[in-house]
Amino acid sequence: MSRSIRIGDVTVPGRVWAAPMTGVSDLPFRKTASGLGAAYVATEMVACAELARGRPDMVRRAAVGEGLPLTVIQLVGRSADWMARGAALAEAAGADIIDLNFGCPAKEVTGALSGSALMRDLDHACRLIDAAVSATRRPVTLKMRLGWDHASINAPALAERAERIGVQAITVHGRTRQQFYTGQADWSAVAAVKQAVRVPVIVNGDILDAADALRALAASGADAVMLGRGLNGRPWATAAIDRALAGEPFAEPCPAARLAIVLGQLRESLVFYGDRLGLKMFRKHLGWAVMAAPWPASADVRRIAKAELCRLETASAVEAALSDLWAGDRYATEVIVPHSAAAAAGSADIASPTMLNSRLRLASCTATVSA
Ligand SMILES: Cc1cc2nc3c(=O)[nH]c(=O)nc-3n(C[C@H](O)[C@H](O)[C@H](O)COP(=O)(O)O)c2cc1C
Repeated sequence: MSRSIRIGDVTVPGRVWAAPMTGVSDLPFRKTASGLGAAYVATEMVACAELARGRPDMVRRAAVGEGLPLTVIQLVGRSADWMARGAALAEAAGADIIDLNFGCPAKEVTGALSGSALMRDLDHACRLIDAAVSATRRPVTLKMRLGWDHASINAPALAERAERIGVQAITVHGRTRQQFYTGQADWSAVAAVKQAVRVPVIVNGDILDAADALRALAASGADAVMLGRGLNGRPWATAAIDRALAGEPFAEPCPAARLAIVLGQLRESLVFYGDRLGLKMFRKHLGWAVMAAPWPASADVRRIAKAELCRLETASAVEAALSDLWAGDRYATEVIVPHSAAAAAGSADIASPTMLNSRLRLASCTATVSA
């Protein structure tokens, strides 16, 4: 099976894609994942009307960075006029591909008759698709769910109509809107979409590793897979899974590589948002990085580390504390301290990286003692 996917005039050089995620796939994240070899990384959803009005957070979401090998801007909207304007603006901003969000389940989005609410009215959905396709020369793609609920599974019907209008690839999250994120994504239900169209189909939902990716591809017959939450703290994951699908060994990065990745993303965040907001926006990625790392071995210790690291007020303090946290196997060799001392440390107000590490060592020992 080919590793690349053709979407209009764009070749995506891999079949493990990074999902658009609001609050996650900002430019620093997209640069980091792309730099690690991700073939496809999309922006957070960008509301067309707010983009056209120049609302700063929407303009920031659509930001395009130097060195990004591929720019996919995802649009969300409720009216054909705004979709058309959004598509034209996305093209002008430098989008290689324009993706339309017909899958977001959030009440504030569906309440505004956008996102997955469009799956309740396919005629209106098609007017929006037509408006976007007519307004840009860039390939337009669609991301959707299986349907609004289990009584109205209409992804194949929407896919078929969308392809006829000119949509060039379709991603399906194997859940209904009413499921939100509960239950299991149904990869086999995506097979009906694959059978309904000739454009590439991408299967999405609950894919974390190469084994999941292989199962999802087999169950759906899709051309590619998309990972969302599996990227939390693992911006290398799509590239690593892509390599694994091609037969290369799958390797998680070593501590030094992880540190370089996290700190690189932190620096990108500071440059993009400025120091104060950059650190704030980065904290969720930092927390995920700590929790996704295999060290310290105890999840409780990692949780404490996460909480403390996310409270630090400067990037240099984060850098020092994280370097120290991941600096080896000291946790296995620390002197065991009594629970009472650990508990006392647990209640202290820790501000400095040095103090943080003392506290983590205590917590680690507590975990060792209680194990
Ligand atoms: C925090 C968060 C934000 C998301 N934002 C978007 C979005 O902006 N656009 C979109 O199409 N889907 C969005 N999604 C849905 C994901 O792209 C993906 O379809 C879903 O998480 C299922 O994939 P996963 O199981 O690999 O996470 C979001 C999901 C999460 C968890």
